[in-house]
Amino acid sequence: MSNQIVVLGTQWGDEGKGKIVDLLTERADAVVRFQGGHNAGHTIVVDRQKVVLHLIPSGILRSEVRCFIGNGVVVSPEALLDEVTHLNNLGVAVDSRLRVSGLCPVIFPYHVAIDIAREDSLGKNAIGTTGRGIGPAYEDKVARRGLRVADLLNPNECRPKIEAVAEYYSFLLEKYYGQEGVNAGSLIERYLDYGIRLSSMVTDVSLELSQMVRDGKSIIFEGAQGTLLDIDHGTYPFVTSSNTTAAAAGVGSGVAPNIFDSIVGITKCYTTRVGSGPFPTELDDDVGAELASKGNEFGATTGRPRRCGWFDAVAVKHACRLSGVTSLCITKLDVLDRLSDLYICTNYRLGEETIDSFPNSTSQFAKCTPCYEKLSGWSSSTAGLREWENLPKNAVRYLNRISELLEVPIDIVSTGADREDTIIRQHPIS
Ligand code: GDP
Ligand code: IMO
Ligand code: MG
Repeated sequence: MSNQIVVLGTQWGDEGKGKIVDLLTERADAVVRFQGGHNAGHTIVVDRQKVVLHLIPSGILRSEVRCFIGNGVVVSPEALLDEVTHLNNLGVAVDSRLRVSGLCPVIFPYHVAIDIAREDSLGKNAIGTTGRGIGPAYEDKVARRGLRVADLLNPNECRPKIEAVAEYYSFLLEKYYGQEGVNAGSLIERYLDYGIRLSSMVTDVSLELSQMVRDGKSIIFEGAQGTLLDIDHGTYPFVTSSNTTAAAAGVGSGVAPNIFDSIVGITKCYTTRVGSGPFPTELDDDVGAELASKGNEFGATTGRPRRCGWFDAVAVKHACRLSGVTSLCITKLDVLDRLSDLYICTNYRLGEETIDSFPNSTSQFAKCTPCYEKLSGWSSSTAGLREWENLPKNAVRYLNRISELLEVPIDIVSTGADREDTIIRQHPIS
């Protein structure tokens, strides 16, 4: 039986999606990225060898699996080609298995320049973007002035488009940000060259995926970032510029929404966030520092330290509702080993009120303080455990309480960075 599943992050990203997608791909025929860009950093560890992917789907390490970059992804040709080379150098064949939608918006250097200039001008109100030009590239898509990957394959159409957009960005960069303008000529040559190098990978992803579904193949739709970074439903404006919820999987890859069988929510058993924005359960104390150090919480894309805090059940419940999460994968359980007490945020205090749902406004969310339920920790190691039955009693209590609060079953628990360090109670792909 074939299965079409969406795997996505339910917090502020870095939940361990890459590890789990790579693992689940053992039963899949294809993996598809449908939003975001190379702002993502997905770490996979197989036999102690670490691979970090930014743009290429996390199924690429399985030699039989096809990988697709759907139309919802903003593509930096330079980053993509670098990643292909990096994987080739590791002995991973990519070219024959990776396909990119011609409809993907292209990221140009002026997007990066605007991203950085805008962050600089925001000063202490900066969003803390990854500086990869993601937001400006999505702006161009919606403004209908952006170029798409297919444009790079057609010199006659590409040239005037780049000339027009370069004029616009030169004006903006020079006059508004006081920066250097854009040299259209050199940009055209460089991007037409990228077009030639990418041409064999460019395809109609929507059509190919539909055919695979018809042929009874199983496909994993791999989310990047996390629900609380969703442009509509996240902590706006401290968000990324794409929809990160399950509904984006259809739109961002060109498949109908009725093909999906299940939605797997990847959830870290505590909370982390990179960049600015409200974070009610953040810990500025020794426990926060311990989570950061034991969890090795440094961004895979920018190397920035991740902010750490207790598990926020209100926020994750919001995420589960938005995406219709059908099963949970709880990651990094081993990081909580040997903490004497654990806290789960079950409600927020907002002014005089206690609320149990995620506020519909970020300014309200910023005023929320957490109400905690205290649970006892466990004194033994869970690192590398592969059987639910071998988990310490208190770890089972902690996991069951999370499942109860979120009203979603836990099918997978991750107990280490390696592919094998995983408890699979039920595989989402039959
Ligand atoms: P993603 O962006 O959601 O794919 O997550 P990242 O790869 O950015 O961050 C997750 C980090 O935690 C990576 O360094 C993983 O290797 C690591 N990791 C994943 N699962 C586990 C786990 O269960 N335990 C530990 N200790 N590390 C894990
Ligand atoms: P993965 O897929 C964590 C955050 C940035 C910033 C905000 C906007 O590895 O989970 P952007 O460059 O997208 O305009 O930045 O979003 N952000 C992430 N945080 N994990 C990610 O991806 C992220 N991608 C973007 O830190 O706060
Ligand atoms: Mg990451």
